[in-house]
Amino acid sequence: MVKILVAGGAGYIGSHVVKAILKAGHQAVVYDDLSSGQRINLFPQAEFIQGDILDYAALKEAMSRNIDAVVHLAGKKAVGESMLVPEKYAVNNITGALNIINAMAECGVKHIVFSSSAAVYGMPEYLPVDEKHPLNPINYYGFTKLEFERNLEWYSRLKDFSYMALRYFNAVGYDAEGDIRGKELNPQNLLPIIIEAATGKRECLNVFGNDYETRDGTCVRDYVHVTDLAKAHVMALEKLMDGAKSEVINLGTNTGTTVKEVIQAAEKVIGKKLNVKYVERRPGDPAELVASYDKAKKVLGWEPDYKNIEDIVRTTWNMENLG
Ligand code: UFG
Repeated sequence: MVKILVAGGAGYIGSHVVKAILKAGHQAVVYDDLSSGQRINLFPQAEFIQGDILDYAALKEAMSRNIDAVVHLAGKKAVGESMLVPEKYAVNNITGALNIINAMAECGVKHIVFSSSAAVYGMPEYLPVDEKHPLNPINYYGFTKLEFERNLEWYSRLKDFSYMALRYFNAVGYDAEGDIRGKELNPQNLLPIIIEAATGKRECLNVFGNDYETRDGTCVRDYVHVTDLAKAHVMALEKLMDGAKSEVINLGTNTGTTVKEVIQAAEKVIGKKLNVKYVERRPGDPAELVASYDKAKKVLGWEPDYKNIEDIVRTTWNMENLG
């Protein structure tokens, strides 16, 4: 049994990671400032420290509690906001993340799994996108993720620790057992927005463009279930603890789904037609983004369990209806 500090463990992906860590028989310490994470996402079996990654003293105190490894998911993630308020992203996603590895180095913690993003690639030059694809982020959010990956690379050499940077594609879905109930506040992503349109919290769903060169004119994305993402974090942690070398790994499904197909799946699961409006393209959206997960399979032995968009949507809809 190992003891893992999960920075951002009360957030959407973080809480699923905590569940997977506990399920694997390890101990978890959640470090979260609850700025977007939520108390309802905390597991009673996990220790909880309310703290900010910008508070170096608090971070160091947390890190000195016999921690064996860290999962860092305490980042800001709104792509649009990162272009308007880059300073917020510089401070949280770069300075805050550096605090984590500096505290690790001071406390002798040697392993970290980092929540990175497909946003480090920018506009895809070929599909499916593998880890050798050029890195040209087109938004500041993606830049912060890449910047920290590069710091990890340097620190792994200079401070002798190992890391796995996991580049998520489109994270969706909820824990199928209903253990995680925190709905994201002000969701920015397609599926939670669809749910808001279905439950009347929004008047309609705006689809950004239907004139792309894709099979139905709407954008193609690689939707990967959050429970599958969580499973990959545990696999990565266990590999690192076993002495595996540092790696950068895509987490996607090698399957592209259009916006229209997500809407159709949602209408089927929810049992009603959505009020859909086709509007202008959103700047910066690639027509198609799909991951190769060959490396995840090779290095971690990981494969997604969820391969069907309807099954994925159902987990979100079921959570919505837990009350
Ligand atoms: N979309 C709509 N209407 C909406 C919201 C989204 O049509 O109201 C469309 C987008 O145009 C896109 C697709 O739905 O084609 C998915 O959009 P999301 O905003 O849910 O996700 P993105 O693919 O834009 O972004 C995701 C993650 C980012 C990450 C990026 C690149 O949310 O964190 O993938 O990997 F940076």
